[in-house]
Amino acid sequence: MNEDLEKRIRAAILNPQNVGEMAGADGIGTVGNSDCGEMLRMWIKFKDENGRKVIDRATFQSFGCETAIAVASLATELIRGKTAQEALSLKTEELAGQLGPLPPMKIHCAQLVEGALRSALAPENATATAHPASAVPVLVTAPASVASAAAPTLLDSFTKPKEGAVKIVFRPPNPSTTA
Ligand code: FES
Repeated sequence: MNEDLEKRIRAAILNPQNVGEMAGADGIGTVGNSDCGEMLRMWIKFKDENGRKVIDRATFQSFGCETAIAVASLATELIRGKTAQEALSLKTEELAGQLGPLPPMKIHCAQLVEGALRSALAPENATATAHPASAVPVLVTAPASVASAAAPTLLDSFTKPKEGAVKIVFRPPNPSTTA
């Protein structure tokens, strides 16, 4: 990873935006990557703005690497004020925003964020295809009504996958993703 990108990531995670659970969210999406063991959950709340249903606020929690946290922080800011459709139309690299292009070994970090966003915005579609081009292999999701009723913490999900969910299996670090 080049030095400039490292600096931008460091700057983003020094003051991460929109971290934490959100009570009364309209959508919740959780995605994990079994290769690196990272997991990210996103909460979305809508509001009505001049007759349009737009994203009022998005928050996240992550057991993720610095890149995933940086992208989630930027993405939750970026989607504010957008409709679900507008947010869903954002490409992986757009979610990474001011971080700029990510090296191939870090693209899956942004795809983790993208998967959680898609899951939170369209949970009924998320189990079928989180994103056609996504490499995120594990997806655990529930509609907000279900998720808030059960309301496991991200730590619960991380350590005790629900029945029917894909279990995250830790493997030795892959040298291509740890650089
Ligand atoms: Fe796997 Fe970043 S999310 S290394």
